[in-house]
Amino acid sequence: MCGIVAYIGHKQARPLILEGLKRLEYRGYDSAGIAVIDGSLNIARAVGRVSVLEEQLEGRRGFSGTIGMGHTRWATHGGVTEVNAHPHRDDRHGLAVIHNGIIENYAALKTYLQDKGHTFSSQTDTEVISMLISELYEGDLEAAVQAALREVTGAYAIAVICEKEPDTLVVARKGSPLIVGIGDGEYIVASDPSAIVAHAAQAFTLDDYNVVKITRDGFRTSNLHNAQVTLNPKIEQLEIDLAQIELGHYRHFMQKEIYEQPQALRNCCGGRLDRKEGRVVLGGLSSISKELSKLRRVVLTAQGTALHAAMIGRYLMEDLAKIPAQTEYASEFRYRNPVVEEGTAVVAVSQSGETADTLAALHEARERGAMALGVINVVGSSISRETDAGVYLRVGPEIGVASTKAFTGQVAVLTMITMFLARKRYMSADQCSDLIGEMEALPGKIERILEQDDRVRRVTEKYVERENWLFLGRGYNYPTALEGALKLKEISYIHAEGMPAAEMKHGPIALINEGMPAVFIANRGRQYEKVMSNIQEVRARKGHVIAVATEGDDRITKYAEDVLWIPDVPEPLSPMLAVVPLQLMAYHAAVLRGHDVDKPRNLAKSVTVE
Ligand code: M6R
Repeated sequence: MCGIVAYIGHKQARPLILEGLKRLEYRGYDSAGIAVIDGSLNIARAVGRVSVLEEQLEGRRGFSGTIGMGHTRWATHGGVTEVNAHPHRDDRHGLAVIHNGIIENYAALKTYLQDKGHTFSSQTDTEVISMLISELYEGDLEAAVQAALREVTGAYAIAVICEKEPDTLVVARKGSPLIVGIGDGEYIVASDPSAIVAHAAQAFTLDDYNVVKITRDGFRTSNLHNAQVTLNPKIEQLEIDLAQIELGHYRHFMQKEIYEQPQALRNCCGGRLDRKEGRVVLGGLSSISKELSKLRRVVLTAQGTALHAAMIGRYLMEDLAKIPAQTEYASEFRYRNPVVEEGTAVVAVSQSGETADTLAALHEARERGAMALGVINVVGSSISRETDAGVYLRVGPEIGVASTKAFTGQVAVLTMITMFLARKRYMSADQCSDLIGEMEALPGKIERILEQDDRVRRVTEKYVERENWLFLGRGYNYPTALEGALKLKEISYIHAEGMPAAEMKHGPIALINEGMPAVFIANRGRQYEKVMSNIQEVRARKGHVIAVATEGDDRITKYAEDVLWIPDVPEPLSPMLAVVPLQLMAYHAAVLRGHDVDKPRNLAKSVTVE
């Protein structure tokens, strides 16, 4: 949600900031803005994409300084207007603020500041921060930021510059990510490494309540009371390279990430599967190996696509490790009064590691005595820092707003965790070894599915004008059906419902009319016959059946209008294959309908607000 980038150094800030904003645009893209100190503080803002801002800046004077900052917005408080776009300027000292997060006590602060004579021009919570810093400014920007943030409740990552101190950039964080890249006499600060990696090889992440004062000569890290703090974690090498965050020959990041899945799975499982010994080696869990032997219950919590992966994790844990497991929307779990018994592990599943509800749910569970585990992609993210242990996905940066390779990575990691736990209980080394063999074959099988891409596009083309779709599956592939529906909804804006196939008869069957597309995941498995009956129920009502089925299944072709094939695979691993044609369908539907696949309306990549 919202991307921020700030620069201080010896280069022109403007092009560098615009480039960074483009890389961060997937975090929010309803408006954008930039501030540069070029003698005085100058600000430009525009509704729409960063490219609109860039056009607006062409030929404009006053933006040639070597210190500046920019913002790409996903609106929370206040509509999508130029006035509400960041940066927000104060009314006294020539200072400006960019912000990612939500200030909860902004209304009370605004009244206080209005009483002090400040005049507001926007409806945002961020403008309150700039006015508060202004009110407390006595010639020391760092001190004013610290004092202001002592009054603020809520979440923030902010950057502040002031024309009275043109050689100082102050940044701070609580609850929203912020990373400082260190170059040669220059610093670039951003919401995530993608905006930094082209300019800095080393970086450090801010902890909550850290305030960093940066000049061209160095930086100082303090807390809100001006006590110096040591960095945790310390300065590290950035581990991503430019190719990972560039499109290459692909048209969209979502397409690139769908195609990256074979390699992403190889990276995810690499070094973790020991087929010879029949065991799974998860370094991230070794410190709590003893506690895991006493595990009595697993609660998997997440949102969106990550929740669908978690639901598959639940099936895996119960089926293969015989551990009682449940899944919870993090947003519900955190506000219920959940009973957390002794021996419970809560597993937070999240690509970004920044989802506000998932972070809060994990926190809540931990307070209640649960062991906190993470299945996270972004190393060093807020959730990963809150966990006792965890396993990273290692699938590389995911930039498309619609999650794809993170989903397969999440399911793969949950499968490995299950095998790790199962080996401590009922799974023999031979059984584990067999399953490892099947896991190792998955990337090749996904490559075979990707070869059908043209066929998936042609099938999608037949139904793309239809406004209502159903996605149906059973067992392990009920969550896959939910994921197929979510993918279609979020990027093509087609209404789609996912559900367990058997649930259809309890109401949704009334929706089926002539030609309505119903996508069935009908791979070979324990519930194959049942799914076949459900398919016939749809056919009897003149719905169009599109089946995702196992290669070599001749029977399905008699009942489904269209079949998308997946290679044979043991049922517990089948979601990692069955989801791929569904991702491709959603992708093609969005392209055929002319939508901006990587920047679907109203969405942002990570939801760092409630
Ligand atoms: O970063 P996270 O995995 O925690 O994000 C959770 C959801 O917001 C995310 O999966 C969302 O549903 C995706 N846009 C779906 O494609």
